[in-house]
Amino acid sequence: MCYFLFPGISSPLHMTISQSLAKIIEIMANNTPHLSLCVTTTDFEKVAKDVLPEKSWVYASSSAATGLSMRSNLDDWSLINFRPRILRRVDRMDTRRSILGHTSQFPFFVSAMGTLGSSHPGAEPLLVRGATRKGMHTMISTASTKPLEEIMDAHREEQRLLNNQSPANLSFQLYVPEDRARAKSLIQRVKAAGYQSLWVTVDTSTLGKRTADRYLQAQENLNADQGGSARDIHNENDFAPAFGGRQVPGSVDAGLTWEDLKWISQEWNGPLVLKGIQSVEDVKLAVQHGVQGILLSNHGGRQIHSAPSSLMTLLEIRKYYPEAFDKLQVFVDGGLRDGADVLKALCLGATAVGVGRPYYYALAAYGAEGVERCTDILAEEVEITMKMLGVTSLDQLRPEMINTSRLENEMWRPAFEKSKL
Ligand SMILES: Cc1cc2nc3c(=O)[nH]c(=O)nc-3n(C[C@H](O)[C@H](O)[C@H](O)COP(=O)(O)O)c2cc1C
Repeated sequence: MCYFLFPGISSPLHMTISQSLAKIIEIMANNTPHLSLCVTTTDFEKVAKDVLPEKSWVYASSSAATGLSMRSNLDDWSLINFRPRILRRVDRMDTRRSILGHTSQFPFFVSAMGTLGSSHPGAEPLLVRGATRKGMHTMISTASTKPLEEIMDAHREEQRLLNNQSPANLSFQLYVPEDRARAKSLIQRVKAAGYQSLWVTVDTSTLGKRTADRYLQAQENLNADQGGSARDIHNENDFAPAFGGRQVPGSVDAGLTWEDLKWISQEWNGPLVLKGIQSVEDVKLAVQHGVQGILLSNHGGRQIHSAPSSLMTLLEIRKYYPEAFDKLQVFVDGGLRDGADVLKALCLGATAVGVGRPYYYALAAYGAEGVERCTDILAEEVEITMKMLGVTSLDQLRPEMINTSRLENEMWRPAFEKSKL
Protein backbone atom coordinates (compact mmCIF):
# COMPACT_ATOMS: atom_id res chain seq x y z
CA MET A 1 0.00 0.00 0.00
CA CYS A 2 1.35 3.44 -0.89
CA TYR A 3 1.29 6.30 1.58
CA PHE A 4 0.42 9.14 -0.77
CA LEU A 5 -0.04 12.53 0.76
CA PHE A 6 -3.48 13.02 -0.75
CA PRO A 7 -4.83 9.56 -1.36
CA GLY A 8 -8.35 10.61 -2.31
CA ILE A 9 -7.38 13.21 -4.84
CA SER A 10 -7.16 12.06 -8.39
CA SER A 11 -8.60 13.64 -11.44
CA PRO A 12 -11.70 11.41 -11.82
CA LEU A 13 -13.08 12.99 -8.64
CA HIS A 14 -12.93 16.39 -10.28
CA MET A 15 -15.01 15.16 -13.21
CA THR A 16 -18.75 15.33 -13.56
CA ILE A 17 -20.56 12.14 -14.63
CA SER A 18 -21.07 13.49 -18.14
CA GLN A 19 -17.37 14.39 -18.38
CA SER A 20 -16.47 10.86 -17.28
CA LEU A 21 -18.86 9.39 -19.80
CA ALA A 22 -17.44 11.56 -22.54
CA LYS A 23 -13.97 10.39 -21.56
CA ILE A 24 -15.00 6.71 -21.68
CA ILE A 25 -16.60 7.20 -25.11
CA GLU A 26 -13.47 8.97 -26.32
CA ILE A 27 -11.26 6.15 -25.07
CA MET A 28 -13.48 3.49 -26.66
CA ALA A 29 -13.56 5.40 -29.94
CA ASN A 30 -9.78 5.66 -29.95
CA ASN A 31 -9.48 2.05 -28.99
CA THR A 32 -7.04 3.13 -26.30
CA PRO A 33 -6.51 0.43 -23.66
CA HIS A 34 -8.00 1.26 -20.28
CA LEU A 35 -5.51 3.16 -18.14
CA SER A 36 -5.49 0.41 -15.52
CA LEU A 37 -3.95 -1.89 -18.12
CA CYS A 38 -0.76 0.17 -17.95
CA VAL A 39 1.13 -1.53 -15.14
CA THR A 40 4.72 -0.61 -15.99
CA THR A 41 6.06 2.77 -17.09
CA THR A 42 7.00 1.31 -20.47
CA ASP A 43 3.37 0.36 -21.22
CA PHE A 44 2.60 4.00 -22.08
CA GLU A 45 5.04 3.88 -24.96
CA LYS A 46 3.02 1.30 -26.89
CA VAL A 47 -0.21 3.23 -26.45
CA ALA A 48 1.44 6.55 -27.32
CA LYS A 49 2.87 5.10 -30.51
CA ASP A 50 -0.68 4.31 -31.64
CA VAL A 51 -2.19 7.69 -30.77
CA LEU A 52 0.65 10.06 -31.72
CA PRO A 53 1.14 11.55 -35.18
CA GLU A 54 4.30 10.20 -36.81
CA LYS A 55 6.17 13.48 -36.35
CA SER A 56 5.53 13.63 -32.61
CA TRP A 57 6.48 9.97 -32.20
CA VAL A 58 9.76 10.56 -34.02
CA TYR A 59 10.47 13.68 -31.94
CA ALA A 60 10.06 11.85 -28.63
CA SER A 61 11.56 8.48 -29.47
CA SER A 62 14.51 9.61 -31.55
CA SER A 63 18.07 9.53 -30.32
CA ALA A 64 21.54 10.25 -31.63
CA ALA A 65 22.98 8.22 -34.51
CA THR A 66 22.41 4.45 -34.07
CA GLY A 67 20.75 4.88 -30.68
CA LEU A 68 23.76 3.56 -28.75
CA SER A 69 23.67 6.33 -26.13
CA MET A 70 19.98 5.74 -25.44
CA ARG A 71 20.33 1.96 -25.35
CA SER A 72 23.18 1.99 -22.84
CA ASN A 73 21.05 4.24 -20.61
CA LEU A 74 18.29 1.65 -20.70
CA ASP A 75 20.48 -1.45 -20.45
CA ASP A 76 22.96 -0.45 -17.76
CA TRP A 77 20.40 -0.30 -14.96
CA SER A 78 19.78 -4.01 -15.45
CA LEU A 79 23.47 -4.80 -14.89
CA ILE A 80 23.17 -3.93 -11.21
CA ASN A 81 21.71 -6.40 -8.72
CA PHE A 82 20.50 -5.72 -5.21
CA ARG A 83 21.88 -7.35 -2.06
CA PRO A 84 18.65 -7.45 -0.04
CA ARG A 85 18.52 -7.70 3.75
CA ILE A 86 15.85 -9.64 5.59
CA LEU A 87 13.91 -9.64 8.86
CA ARG A 88 13.97 -5.92 9.37
CA ARG A 89 10.90 -3.99 10.38
CA VAL A 90 9.50 -2.57 7.17
CA ASP A 91 5.87 -1.93 8.01
CA ARG A 92 6.10 1.84 7.60
CA MET A 93 7.63 3.54 4.58
CA ASP A 94 8.82 7.05 3.87
CA THR A 95 9.59 7.82 0.22
CA ARG A 96 10.00 11.57 0.62
CA ARG A 97 13.13 13.38 -0.45
CA SER A 98 14.43 16.90 -0.04
CA ILE A 99 15.41 18.26 -3.44
CA LEU A 100 17.33 21.55 -3.28
CA GLY A 101 15.62 22.39 -0.01
CA HIS A 102 12.08 21.41 -1.04
CA THR A 103 10.40 18.18 -0.06
CA SER A 104 9.16 15.97 -2.85
CA GLN A 105 6.80 13.09 -2.18
CA PHE A 106 9.14 10.85 -4.19
CA PRO A 107 12.84 10.60 -5.12
CA PHE A 108 12.00 11.17 -8.79
CA PHE A 109 10.82 14.09 -10.89
CA VAL A 110 9.89 14.81 -14.49
CA SER A 111 12.93 15.87 -16.52
CA ALA A 112 12.67 18.75 -18.94
CA MET A 113 11.06 17.94 -22.26
CA GLY A 114 10.44 20.59 -24.90
CA THR A 115 7.38 21.06 -27.06
CA LEU A 116 4.92 19.01 -25.02
CA GLY A 117 2.15 20.33 -27.25
CA SER A 118 3.35 17.68 -29.66
CA SER A 119 2.41 15.07 -27.06
CA HIS A 120 -1.00 16.41 -26.01
CA PRO A 121 -2.94 19.63 -26.72
CA GLY A 122 -2.95 20.32 -22.95
CA ALA A 123 0.87 20.44 -23.14
CA GLU A 124 2.92 21.47 -20.06
CA PRO A 125 -0.03 22.83 -18.02
CA LEU A 126 -1.68 19.40 -18.15
CA LEU A 127 1.58 17.66 -17.24
CA VAL A 128 2.10 19.82 -14.16
CA ARG A 129 -1.50 19.36 -13.04
CA GLY A 130 -0.96 15.60 -12.93
CA ALA A 131 2.43 15.97 -11.25
CA THR A 132 1.14 18.46 -8.68
CA ARG A 133 -1.71 16.14 -7.70
CA LYS A 134 0.90 13.53 -6.87
CA GLY A 135 3.33 15.80 -5.03
CA MET A 136 6.06 15.35 -7.64
CA HIS A 137 8.41 18.08 -8.87
CA THR A 138 8.58 18.95 -12.57
CA MET A 139 11.35 20.56 -14.61
CA ILE A 140 9.99 22.83 -17.33
CA SER A 141 11.95 23.21 -20.56
CA THR A 142 13.05 26.47 -22.17
CA ALA A 143 11.45 24.95 -25.28
CA SER A 144 8.01 24.59 -23.69
CA THR A 145 4.99 24.87 -25.96
CA LYS A 146 3.16 27.12 -23.50
CA PRO A 147 4.60 30.26 -21.92
CA LEU A 148 6.38 29.62 -18.63
CA GLU A 149 3.96 31.90 -16.76
CA GLU A 150 0.92 29.95 -17.97
CA ILE A 151 2.53 26.71 -16.81
CA MET A 152 3.16 28.19 -13.36
CA ASP A 153 -0.47 29.38 -13.24
CA ALA A 154 -1.68 25.83 -13.90
CA HIS A 155 0.55 24.55 -11.08
CA ARG A 156 -0.74 27.23 -8.68
CA GLU A 157 -4.36 26.62 -9.58
CA GLU A 158 -3.92 22.90 -8.98
CA GLN A 159 -2.27 23.72 -5.65
CA ARG A 160 -5.32 25.76 -4.69
CA LEU A 161 -7.61 22.84 -5.55
CA LEU A 162 -5.46 20.73 -3.21
CA ASN A 163 -5.61 23.36 -0.44
CA ASN A 164 -1.90 24.00 -1.01
CA GLN A 165 -1.11 20.55 0.40
CA SER A 166 1.02 19.30 -2.46
CA PRO A 167 4.80 19.49 -1.90
CA ALA A 168 5.26 19.66 -5.70
CA ASN A 169 7.11 22.56 -7.24
CA LEU A 170 8.44 23.63 -10.63
CA SER A 171 12.03 24.16 -11.68
CA PHE A 172 13.21 25.64 -14.97
CA GLN A 173 15.64 24.18 -17.50
CA LEU A 174 17.67 26.87 -19.25
CA TYR A 175 19.13 26.82 -22.75
CA VAL A 176 21.35 29.89 -22.74
CA PRO A 177 20.79 31.91 -25.93
CA GLU A 178 23.68 33.72 -27.63
CA ASP A 179 22.26 37.15 -26.91
CA ARG A 180 23.21 37.91 -23.29
CA ALA A 181 20.45 40.49 -22.83
CA ARG A 182 17.83 37.97 -23.99
CA ALA A 183 19.29 35.36 -21.65
CA LYS A 184 19.09 37.74 -18.71
CA SER A 185 15.54 38.77 -19.48
CA LEU A 186 14.51 35.11 -19.67
CA ILE A 187 16.11 34.39 -16.29
CA GLN A 188 14.26 37.38 -14.81
CA ARG A 189 10.95 36.08 -16.19
CA VAL A 190 11.63 32.65 -14.70
CA LYS A 191 12.42 34.24 -11.35
CA ALA A 192 9.37 36.50 -11.40
CA ALA A 193 7.11 33.56 -12.22
CA GLY A 194 8.28 31.74 -9.06
CA TYR A 195 10.29 28.78 -10.35
CA GLN A 196 12.33 27.24 -7.51
CA SER A 197 15.59 26.32 -9.20
CA LEU A 198 17.42 26.84 -12.47
CA TRP A 199 18.89 23.85 -14.35
CA VAL A 200 21.31 24.98 -17.05
CA THR A 201 21.67 22.42 -19.83
CA VAL A 202 25.37 22.06 -20.63
CA ASP A 203 25.39 19.19 -23.11
CA THR A 204 23.85 21.08 -26.02
CA SER A 205 26.56 23.17 -27.64
CA THR A 206 24.78 22.07 -30.81
CA LEU A 207 21.78 19.90 -31.55
CA GLY A 208 22.59 16.17 -31.69
CA LYS A 209 22.26 14.38 -35.00
CA ARG A 210 19.04 12.45 -34.53
CA THR A 211 18.72 9.92 -37.29
CA ALA A 212 14.94 9.48 -37.26
CA ASP A 213 14.48 13.27 -37.35
CA ARG A 214 16.82 13.48 -40.35
CA TYR A 215 14.84 10.87 -42.31
CA LEU A 216 11.63 12.71 -41.56
CA GLN A 217 13.12 16.05 -42.61
CA ALA A 218 14.42 14.56 -45.83
CA GLN A 219 10.98 13.15 -46.56
CA GLU A 220 9.35 16.48 -45.76
CA ASN A 221 11.73 18.26 -48.07
CA LEU A 222 10.79 15.87 -50.84
CA ASN A 223 7.11 16.22 -50.04
CA ALA A 224 5.30 19.12 -51.59
CA ASP A 225 2.87 19.48 -48.69
CA GLN A 226 5.68 19.61 -46.04
CA GLY A 227 4.34 17.22 -43.34
CA GLY A 228 2.61 19.31 -40.72
CA SER A 229 1.20 16.29 -38.94
CA ALA A 230 2.69 16.98 -35.52
CA ARG A 231 0.10 18.17 -33.01
CA ASP A 232 1.96 21.38 -32.37
CA ILE A 233 5.38 22.13 -33.66
CA HIS A 234 5.24 25.90 -33.05
CA ASN A 235 5.83 26.83 -29.45
CA GLU A 236 4.32 29.92 -27.88
CA ASN A 237 7.74 31.15 -26.85
CA ASP A 238 10.74 32.52 -28.73
CA PHE A 239 13.43 30.62 -26.86
CA ALA A 240 13.03 27.07 -28.23
CA PRO A 241 16.38 25.88 -29.61
CA ALA A 242 14.86 23.69 -32.31
CA PHE A 243 11.67 23.04 -34.21
CA GLY A 244 11.03 19.68 -35.84
CA GLY A 245 14.65 18.69 -35.30
CA ARG A 246 15.97 21.90 -36.95
CA GLN A 247 18.14 24.16 -34.81
CA VAL A 248 17.05 27.79 -34.42
CA PRO A 249 20.11 30.03 -35.01
CA GLY A 250 21.26 31.90 -31.89
CA SER A 251 19.07 29.89 -29.53
CA VAL A 252 21.94 28.06 -27.83
CA ASP A 253 25.29 29.68 -27.10
CA ALA A 254 28.10 27.37 -28.21
CA GLY A 255 30.54 29.87 -26.68
CA LEU A 256 29.31 29.17 -23.14
CA THR A 257 32.08 28.39 -20.58
CA TRP A 258 32.47 27.87 -16.84
CA GLU A 259 33.10 31.60 -16.56
CA ASP A 260 29.52 32.29 -17.61
CA LEU A 261 28.20 30.60 -14.50
CA LYS A 262 29.16 33.76 -12.63
CA TRP A 263 26.70 36.08 -14.35
CA ILE A 264 24.06 33.37 -14.60
CA SER A 265 24.12 32.74 -10.86
CA GLN A 266 24.21 36.47 -10.11
CA GLU A 267 21.20 37.01 -12.33
CA TRP A 268 19.34 34.01 -10.92
CA ASN A 269 20.36 34.30 -7.28
CA GLY A 270 18.94 30.92 -6.30
CA PRO A 271 19.66 27.18 -6.50
CA LEU A 272 21.62 26.41 -9.68
CA VAL A 273 22.07 22.96 -11.23
CA LEU A 274 24.14 21.89 -14.26
CA LYS A 275 22.22 19.43 -16.45
CA GLY A 276 24.21 17.11 -18.69
CA ILE A 277 27.47 16.36 -16.86
CA GLN A 278 29.21 13.23 -18.19
CA SER A 279 32.63 12.97 -16.53
CA VAL A 280 34.14 13.10 -13.07
CA GLU A 281 36.48 15.92 -14.13
CA ASP A 282 33.50 18.15 -14.81
CA VAL A 283 31.96 17.20 -11.47
CA LYS A 284 35.10 18.57 -9.80
CA LEU A 285 34.78 21.79 -11.76
CA ALA A 286 31.11 22.05 -10.85
CA VAL A 287 32.04 21.78 -7.17
CA GLN A 288 34.75 24.43 -7.60
CA HIS A 289 32.24 26.75 -9.23
CA GLY A 290 29.88 26.42 -6.29
CA VAL A 291 26.71 25.18 -7.97
CA GLN A 292 24.13 23.53 -5.75
CA GLY A 293 23.52 20.49 -7.92
CA ILE A 294 24.51 18.48 -10.98
CA LEU A 295 22.32 16.30 -13.17
CA LEU A 296 24.30 13.42 -14.68
CA SER A 297 22.67 12.97 -18.04
CA ASN A 298 23.34 12.29 -21.69
CA HIS A 299 20.08 14.00 -22.64
CA GLY A 300 18.25 10.68 -22.98
CA GLY A 301 20.79 9.60 -25.60
CA ARG A 302 19.77 12.47 -27.88
CA GLN A 303 23.03 14.44 -27.94
CA ILE A 304 26.51 12.92 -28.32
CA HIS A 305 26.73 9.51 -30.02
CA SER A 306 28.49 6.86 -27.88
CA ALA A 307 27.98 8.78 -24.65
CA PRO A 308 28.56 7.10 -21.30
CA SER A 309 25.28 6.01 -19.77
CA SER A 310 24.28 8.30 -16.93
CA LEU A 311 24.64 5.34 -14.56
CA MET A 312 28.24 4.85 -15.71
CA THR A 313 28.96 8.49 -14.91
CA LEU A 314 27.39 8.04 -11.48
CA LEU A 315 29.62 5.02 -10.82
CA GLU A 316 32.65 7.02 -11.97
CA ILE A 317 31.94 9.66 -9.36
CA ARG A 318 31.32 7.08 -6.65
CA LYS A 319 34.71 5.54 -7.49
CA TYR A 320 36.94 8.58 -8.11
CA TYR A 321 35.31 11.46 -6.29
CA PRO A 322 32.86 10.27 -3.61
CA GLU A 323 33.34 13.56 -1.73
CA ALA A 324 31.10 15.15 -4.38
CA PHE A 325 28.02 13.67 -2.69
CA ASP A 326 28.72 15.79 0.42
CA LYS A 327 29.37 18.97 -1.54
CA LEU A 328 26.33 19.20 -3.80
CA GLN A 329 23.20 17.29 -4.71
CA VAL A 330 23.70 14.73 -7.46
CA PHE A 331 20.81 13.89 -9.78
CA VAL A 332 20.66 11.37 -12.62
CA ASP A 333 18.37 10.87 -15.59
CA GLY A 334 18.31 8.54 -18.57
CA GLY A 335 16.67 5.16 -19.03
CA LEU A 336 15.12 4.90 -15.55
CA ARG A 337 11.94 2.91 -16.08
CA ASP A 338 11.33 1.08 -12.80
CA GLY A 339 11.26 1.99 -9.12
CA ALA A 340 14.13 -0.47 -8.64
CA ASP A 341 16.27 1.63 -11.04
CA VAL A 342 15.49 4.69 -8.93
CA LEU A 343 16.72 2.96 -5.78
CA LYS A 344 19.91 1.72 -7.48
CA ALA A 345 20.78 5.34 -8.24
CA LEU A 346 20.04 6.37 -4.67
CA CYS A 347 22.20 3.54 -3.29
CA LEU A 348 25.10 5.06 -5.22
CA GLY A 349 24.47 8.46 -3.68
CA ALA A 350 22.04 10.23 -6.00
CA THR A 351 19.58 12.55 -4.28
CA ALA A 352 16.83 11.92 -6.82
CA VAL A 353 16.38 10.93 -10.45
CA GLY A 354 14.68 12.43 -13.47
CA VAL A 355 12.33 10.56 -15.79
CA GLY A 356 11.65 11.75 -19.32
CA ARG A 357 9.98 9.74 -22.10
CA PRO A 358 7.60 7.66 -19.92
CA TYR A 359 5.91 10.94 -18.98
CA TYR A 360 5.80 12.19 -22.57
CA TYR A 361 4.07 8.95 -23.58
CA ALA A 362 1.76 8.86 -20.56
CA LEU A 363 0.64 12.42 -21.30
CA ALA A 364 0.12 11.63 -24.98
CA ALA A 365 -1.98 8.55 -24.26
CA TYR A 366 -4.02 9.60 -21.23
CA GLY A 367 -3.41 13.27 -20.42
CA ALA A 368 -3.03 14.24 -16.74
CA GLU A 369 -4.42 10.89 -15.58
CA GLY A 370 -1.61 9.17 -17.45
CA VAL A 371 0.90 11.36 -15.63
CA GLU A 372 -0.68 10.39 -12.31
CA ARG A 373 -0.74 6.72 -13.20
CA CYS A 374 2.89 6.73 -14.30
CA THR A 375 3.80 8.31 -10.96
CA ASP A 376 1.76 5.74 -9.02
CA ILE A 377 3.51 2.93 -10.86
CA LEU A 378 6.99 4.24 -10.04
CA ALA A 379 6.00 5.06 -6.46
CA GLU A 380 4.63 1.59 -5.85
CA GLU A 381 7.74 -0.03 -7.30
CA VAL A 382 9.95 2.16 -5.10
CA GLU A 383 7.99 1.11 -2.04
CA ILE A 384 7.89 -2.60 -2.89
CA THR A 385 11.63 -2.63 -3.54
CA MET A 386 12.44 -0.70 -0.36
CA LYS A 387 10.47 -3.24 1.70
CA MET A 388 12.27 -6.19 0.20
CA LEU A 389 15.62 -4.47 0.50
CA GLY A 390 14.94 -4.02 4.21
CA VAL A 391 14.82 -0.22 4.42
CA THR A 392 12.08 2.12 5.59
CA SER A 393 13.47 5.46 4.44
CA LEU A 394 15.65 6.61 1.59
CA ASP A 395 18.52 7.75 3.80
CA GLN A 396 19.12 4.09 4.76
CA LEU A 397 20.18 3.23 1.21
CA ARG A 398 23.89 2.40 0.88
CA PRO A 399 26.34 1.38 -1.90
CA GLU A 400 26.70 -2.01 -0.13
CA MET A 401 23.09 -2.81 -0.99
CA ILE A 402 23.93 -3.24 -4.66
CA ASN A 403 26.39 -5.29 -6.71
CA THR A 404 27.97 -3.11 -9.39
CA SER A 405 30.80 -5.50 -10.35
CA ARG A 406 29.65 -6.10 -13.91
CA LEU A 407 29.54 -2.39 -14.70
CA GLU A 408 32.78 -1.64 -12.88
CA ASN A 409 34.57 -3.91 -15.33
CA GLU A 410 33.60 -1.52 -18.10
CA MET A 411 34.11 1.67 -16.17
CA TRP A 412 36.60 4.25 -17.37
CA ARG A 413 40.03 4.06 -15.78
CA PRO A 414 42.68 6.76 -15.94
CA ALA A 415 45.06 5.82 -18.77
CA PHE A 416 48.12 6.33 -16.58
CA GLU A 417 48.31 5.72 -12.88
CA LYS A 418 49.52 9.23 -12.12
CA SER A 419 47.18 11.06 -14.46
CA LYS A 420 45.33 13.83 -12.70
CA LEU A 421 41.56 13.96 -12.82
C1 LIG B 1 10.96 14.57 -26.17
C2 LIG B 1 12.13 15.04 -25.36
C3 LIG B 1 12.40 16.38 -25.27
C4 LIG B 1 13.46 16.83 -24.49
N1 LIG B 1 13.68 18.17 -24.39
C5 LIG B 1 14.66 18.61 -23.57
C6 LIG B 1 14.84 20.01 -23.38
O1 LIG B 1 14.09 20.82 -23.90
N2 LIG B 1 15.84 20.40 -22.58
C7 LIG B 1 16.68 19.51 -21.96
O2 LIG B 1 17.59 19.93 -21.23
N3 LIG B 1 16.52 18.19 -22.11
C8 LIG B 1 15.53 17.72 -22.89
N4 LIG B 1 15.34 16.38 -23.03
C9 LIG B 1 16.17 15.43 -22.24
C10 LIG B 1 15.47 15.12 -20.91
O3 LIG B 1 15.49 16.22 -20.06
C11 LIG B 1 16.12 13.95 -20.16
O4 LIG B 1 17.49 14.23 -20.00
C12 LIG B 1 15.94 12.59 -20.82
O5 LIG B 1 14.69 12.50 -21.46
C13 LIG B 1 16.04 11.49 -19.81
O6 LIG B 1 16.03 10.24 -20.42
P1 LIG B 1 14.73 9.31 -20.54
O7 LIG B 1 13.85 9.91 -21.57
O8 LIG B 1 15.31 8.01 -20.96
O9 LIG B 1 14.07 9.23 -19.18
C14 LIG B 1 14.28 15.90 -23.82
C15 LIG B 1 14.01 14.53 -23.93
C16 LIG B 1 12.94 14.10 -24.68
C17 LIG B 1 12.66 12.63 -24.74
